[in-house]
Amino acid sequence: MAISDPDTFRSRLASRRVLHFDVNRSSSIQLHPPIKPEWKAASKNWGHPFHTMCSYMAMFPPRIPHYFIQRFTRPGDRVLDPFSGRGTTPTQACLEGRVGIANDLNPLAYHLSRAKVDPPDKQAVLDRLDVLAGDYQSTSSHVTQPAGDIAIVFHPDTLHQLAYLRATLQDSREDNFIRATILGILHGKYRRSGTDSIYLSIDMPNTFSMSPEYIRRYVAEKQLAYLPLDVFVNTRRRVEWLFRKGIPATKGEAHRHDVRRLHELLPADSIQLVVTSPPYLKVVKYGLYNWIRLWFLDVPVEEVDQALDDGHALPSYLTFMQETILEIEQLLKPGGLAALIIGDVSQNGGSRLNLSEAVWEKVAPVTDLALLDIVPDNIADSAKVTKIWNETRGRATDIDRILILCKGSKVGINHTSVTW
Ligand SMILES: C[S@@+](CC[C@H](N)C(=O)[O-])C[C@H]1O[C@@H](n2cnc3c(N)ncnc32)[C@H](O)[C@@H]1O
Repeated sequence: MAISDPDTFRSRLASRRVLHFDVNRSSSIQLHPPIKPEWKAASKNWGHPFHTMCSYMAMFPPRIPHYFIQRFTRPGDRVLDPFSGRGTTPTQACLEGRVGIANDLNPLAYHLSRAKVDPPDKQAVLDRLDVLAGDYQSTSSHVTQPAGDIAIVFHPDTLHQLAYLRATLQDSREDNFIRATILGILHGKYRRSGTDSIYLSIDMPNTFSMSPEYIRRYVAEKQLAYLPLDVFVNTRRRVEWLFRKGIPATKGEAHRHDVRRLHELLPADSIQLVVTSPPYLKVVKYGLYNWIRLWFLDVPVEEVDQALDDGHALPSYLTFMQETILEIEQLLKPGGLAALIIGDVSQNGGSRLNLSEAVWEKVAPVTDLALLDIVPDNIADSAKVTKIWNETRGRATDIDRILILCKGSKVGINHTSVTW
């Protein structure tokens, strides 16, 4: 059956659902109340300051995992995002007393997720910053000034401090928190007053890195000034701000693994809930569009873009998603639920492809997971980061759909209300 034939697909989907409910009539798999995008009623800024540590392309708001965590888990349960990005799901899980498990193959995502699900004590971070600032004063003459494209982004003094920190930060929790905080303020918009800007770069977007050629042109056209912003001072300000509402109640885990091999790390039947958004179909290049943050992490752009599954054409994307969902099936507990946020994409010729239905069609013949629903979530009003280009750069549309799957014939936990 052609995927692009929505009516045929829908009738098959409906008959599959009827069949499923007939077979399991006694197990009451139908959800009461049904899942609806209630999170839309919550404020766009809803959530703990940790969520705003660093923007990430195609991130979703914490209101979404909060809804699923409240309805489908209890304190102590393990909640996984196998494509964790900035760590929204695992961080929200830890904030609500669940064990948030982050996984993402992108080193940027790994460092951000790790900082939030296993944060150090605030005072330890501030003390470490003082030590680093003191050490910089006494050893800065040994630091080589970076040249090349990175030099067009920062004032030379700011860049020198960044180069020192890039070479000095270690693998401890404190240092990783400092690293993640700096990643979040590395580039962004100037405040009007210029000097009190939290961001360390010339005036540019926060979410993604403009290309070096574009920056050169932009700086010349707008005659942008390079301000000597102090990395130690701004990082301290940002750390104070991030910790202003305390830290998550529970400690989580962060991994940097290929999603298809997660069973090597996590036990079977151990996860109560998965809330995730898989990579889009050729929409985002996480390496290229993050070249400034990857410079700070000392990771080559090509290494990231080659490793991630962002560049698939439709057939290989569907195979990738089939493998991913089979992996999730293994990890879920019986009665556990998986919510996968998958955006519609526009195809060549302009038609819209309902990718979540296409994914389910590919997976249904080989999985024992039950389809509970596909819930549309119109995201025109939300901060969908792929919309920043506003034109032909990507294939993302303004409709996301949430593919909701369950392991076994009964949803293990289904609270009826969500508090905000
Ligand atoms: C849409 S983003 C997730 C964003 C996340 N929900 C958030 O709120 O920040 C998809 C993620 O999948 C990751 N990814 C791509 N291929 C992967 C793979 N094979 N294994 C693990 N992660 C992968 C990318 O690095 C990216 O962070």
